[in-house]
Amino acid sequence: MFDSFGRHIEYLRVSVTDRCNYRCFYCMPDGHVPCASRDEVLNSGELTRLIGLFAALGVRRVRITGGEPLVRRDIHTIVAEVRQTPGIDDISLSTNGHLLDEQAAELRNAGLDRINVSLDSLIPDVFHTVTGHDALKRVLKGLDTAQVQGLGPVKVNTVVMKGVNDGEIGQFLDYCVPRGLELRFIETMPLNGNDVVRTRHYMPAEDILERVRTHCGTDLIPETTGRGAGPARYFRLGAGPGRVGVISAMSQHFCAACNRVRLTATGDLVLCLGHEDAVPLGRLMRDGASDRTLTQAILEGIARKPERHTFHDQPSAQPMSRLGG
Ligand code: GTP
Ligand code: 5AD
Ligand code: SF4
Repeated sequence: MFDSFGRHIEYLRVSVTDRCNYRCFYCMPDGHVPCASRDEVLNSGELTRLIGLFAALGVRRVRITGGEPLVRRDIHTIVAEVRQTPGIDDISLSTNGHLLDEQAAELRNAGLDRINVSLDSLIPDVFHTVTGHDALKRVLKGLDTAQVQGLGPVKVNTVVMKGVNDGEIGQFLDYCVPRGLELRFIETMPLNGNDVVRTRHYMPAEDILERVRTHCGTDLIPETTGRGAGPARYFRLGAGPGRVGVISAMSQHFCAACNRVRLTATGDLVLCLGHEDAVPLGRLMRDGASDRTLTQAILEGIARKPERHTFHDQPSAQPMSRLGG
């Protein structure tokens, strides 16, 4: 399906829970965010019904997000049901990695194609400061297991925060590149009304890339192919096999190429990460709406998808734990 700016919408990000076992300070600045009650959260049958309607409208990629999707006990059932959905040919999942070591094999067996793992520090103390948990080792083990289980290319998402982890850019490259982990450095976005992250810790992608250049002592060669389905821009590290990605939502936004919409855990269709406008598909479904009515509501939502985010003018009040990134 196409929106009113002619963008082809074929990627659905589905948050399966707004709960998380971490407390990353840029996501939950006060250590918590309000969560939906358990019975408001869609069950796996409801989720797959909605995903089926999106697939019938041309969505072919589904990314499962949260909160933290692996805290949901029926996550394997959800993956297996999405795998059965005609038209969906790419199923990925974004996780903080805490439960990945124990769940990777079962996720693979359920039909998951690939996984992205958030990792903001390789220094145990800093990892603890960012996430509120002393768990670096188990996340690194989870990354290994995901690779062994064939959930690749395994991507590492690092939100770069000045004064927190910007000194680790070289360490991340040294860790990820030789292991074949696809490293992406992400600019902080002002979500959850969290302007502090934008002003005090914000580091533009150009500065990040300059640090990469200095560390590797090579030119960075922009890749024109193999960009993947998401917003990352990739660069080859000189003539060698390694590459690095940046996600520059603030300094060089990618909204003109946007291919996605989001479904929250309660079934709200959110049209843009930076806007609160949503279609309450979950409520309509529970009120007894037919597939036809729901499809009509999806199309009406897509028709009013905003042209771009407005993070520069105003931070979004929405928590990332609701939107799934
Ligand atoms: P693939 O390229 O399919 O692997 O996934 P992805 O990069 O789209 O997904 P991932 O969940 O790993 O997201 C990485 C970062 O990109 C996160 O910080 C997201 O918040 C950010 N991101 C993903 N989609 C969008 C988007 O539509 N708009 C903005 N502004 N940021 C996004
Ligand atoms: N800015 C940029 N990225 C963020 N993420 C969470 N909150 C923000 C933010 N404010 C990232 C997570 C994860 C991905 C899904 O979104 O670290 O890698
Ligand atoms: Fe698409 Fe909105 Fe993300 Fe821009 S900010 S890429 S329009 S979802």
